[in-house]
Amino acid sequence: MELTKIKKQIIAFNVLGIALVSCGGVPEEKSATATEEKAFSVEEVLEMVAKENDVTRTLYTKAIVGKGKKQGMKFDEDWRKDDVEAGPLPALFLRGVATSIRKGPVPLGLYLGSDFPVNAANKFEGKQAELFDQIKKDQKPQFFYDEDQKLHTAMFADLASAGACVSCHNDHPQTTKSDWKLGDVMGATTWQYPKDSLTYKETVAVLNSYAKGTVDIYMEYLDEIEAFKESEKPEIGNKWPEEGNYLPTAEVFLDSVRKLASYETMKQLVASK
Ligand code: HEC
Repeated sequence: MELTKIKKQIIAFNVLGIALVSCGGVPEEKSATATEEKAFSVEEVLEMVAKENDVTRTLYTKAIVGKGKKQGMKFDEDWRKDDVEAGPLPALFLRGVATSIRKGPVPLGLYLGSDFPVNAANKFEGKQAELFDQIKKDQKPQFFYDEDQKLHTAMFADLASAGACVSCHNDHPQTTKSDWKLGDVMGATTWQYPKDSLTYKETVAVLNSYAKGTVDIYMEYLDEIEAFKESEKPEIGNKWPEEGNYLPTAEVFLDSVRKLASYETMKQLVASK
């Protein structure tokens, strides 16, 4: 099967959140066993989902929060409160994704931490604090097996990729550090999974649970807007805040994530065969 067709399949599955049953590129007669075979190490899969997360997080921070603020849209840590008419901050968007994944059937854990957090609950402890010191030095991912939780764990640098990251954290009343600079390692995303290797099907399920989490929290944001009483509601459709008081629908948002991320993921999914 040619690559474009495989890519379309992956895209379709990511959008719909459906697990892949048979795999493109595998001959028909072998596909039943191939889907049972362990196709990827847990490190490879966590790396794939972390990449999707990087793209999603950057897109949300820059194209929605960054540009949206210029249009007068508001983003707040108390965005869920009834009297606050605002959208989720980037970290809370990520927490929303993590919450949605936790409610689903895929045993994937996601957590955003730091050594100097705004929220004390996000402070790394123990082994993760140790490895985070290393990540700050070389920005390379760290992998280990968490004996206490019996979970394979991967940590990836979370960089100050936009001016908004730095200014908001430096100025926050609860901040524990006020000299963050652009490009700093501000924290790390920690990902956990119970098994050391995954079948093709389990791998796609992990990627789908992340994509579904993105859609879930984004839809919650759109619902929040729907309930605005005082603030002007942005028009929700194909356009982005860059063009005016607009927000993309969840489908349009996810479509952009996929355009930016799925090619890399697809290359890895196909390369292992
Ligand atoms: C408008 C304010 C704002 C912006 C913009 C923002 N953050 Fe945060 N960030 C917060 C708040 C508030 C929290 C704590 C949320 C919570 O209650 O867990 C947080 C949490 C975090 C955490 C977890 C550790 C901690 O500090 O509690 C990391 C890491 C982090 N942000 C990095 C970033 C990065 C990187 C960016 C840009 C891509 C960014 N933030 C953009 C306000 C912001």
